[in-house]
Amino acid sequence: MLELKNIVFEVPVDEHSSKTKRIIDDLSLTIEDGKFTVITGPNGGGKSTLAKLIMGIEQPTSGTILFNGEDVTHASITERANLGIGYGFQQPARFKGMKVKKLLELAAGKRLPALQCNEYLSKVGLCSAAYLTREVDKSLSGGEVKRIEIATMLARDPKLAIYDEPEAGIDLWSFDRLTETFRDIHEARDDRSIVIISHQERIIQLADDIVCLRDGRIEDAGPRDEIMPKLGLADRAQFGCTLTTPTELHLTKIPTTC
Ligand SMILES: Nc1ncnc2c1ncn2[C@@H]1O[C@H](COP(=O)(O)OP(=O)(O)OP(=O)(O)O)[C@@H](O)[C@H]1O
Ligand SMILES: [Mg+2]
Repeated sequence: MLELKNIVFEVPVDEHSSKTKRIIDDLSLTIEDGKFTVITGPNGGGKSTLAKLIMGIEQPTSGTILFNGEDVTHASITERANLGIGYGFQQPARFKGMKVKKLLELAAGKRLPALQCNEYLSKVGLCSAAYLTREVDKSLSGGEVKRIEIATMLARDPKLAIYDEPEAGIDLWSFDRLTETFRDIHEARDDRSIVIISHQERIIQLADDIVCLRDGRIEDAGPRDEIMPKLGLADRAQFGCTLTTPTELHLTKIPTTC
């Protein structure tokens, strides 16, 4: 279980000023084991910052983070990774000189047979034969790097996996495969928690719980059936519209409801 208690994250307004700007504002949230939680909300609401605070990439100004009862507020990224927290970046890094197979093995912490690598890559819609020996460098497209990072998260299999906009840069056809993968992980593993930061209705629909974040604060949170109607997505499904673009969701739905 992950518990965030009264988390505040402030940054200087500019490098010459002692004034600060609050990015995360006294936020408290509990993620239960085995839950699939989607964090959504407008651009700049603080979603990625929150994920970085959980992973230890940023340190909170105040507040406490507990993971399975252990205080990890000041733990390093490596310590948190060893405890079982994993984070898939909104914009994944590239690693010149590193082959895809090696990256998967580093994530898994062991050598992997080709068959196992195939399985991870096919879950993100990539053909193993074409990618295993590719370098994770600039020659890969944005969508390919994103999918490879999701595959490394599958190989790592953390107790708490945080995916930051996994849909970003993924084409519609591969997106279907990806949503199936997230659903399968959730159904197969009730000892694992998944947090997905997303604007996509298809992903939001998979959630047990939805959290709406705006201006660094939780605007609304609760079980999917309670929160989804407030997002105004149910009406769209009724009209056969299953995909909502981020822009539509943000401009026409969230501001008026949550
Ligand atoms: N280190 C920092 N210094 C200054 N401003 C920051 C810093 N980190 C985050 N911010 C600002 O905090 C706000 C929240 O950023 P964040 O990346 O968490 O938003 P987000 O909800 O993930 O948005 P998006 O949906 O666009 O990905 C933004 O306005 C961002 O510019
Ligand atoms: Mg973000």
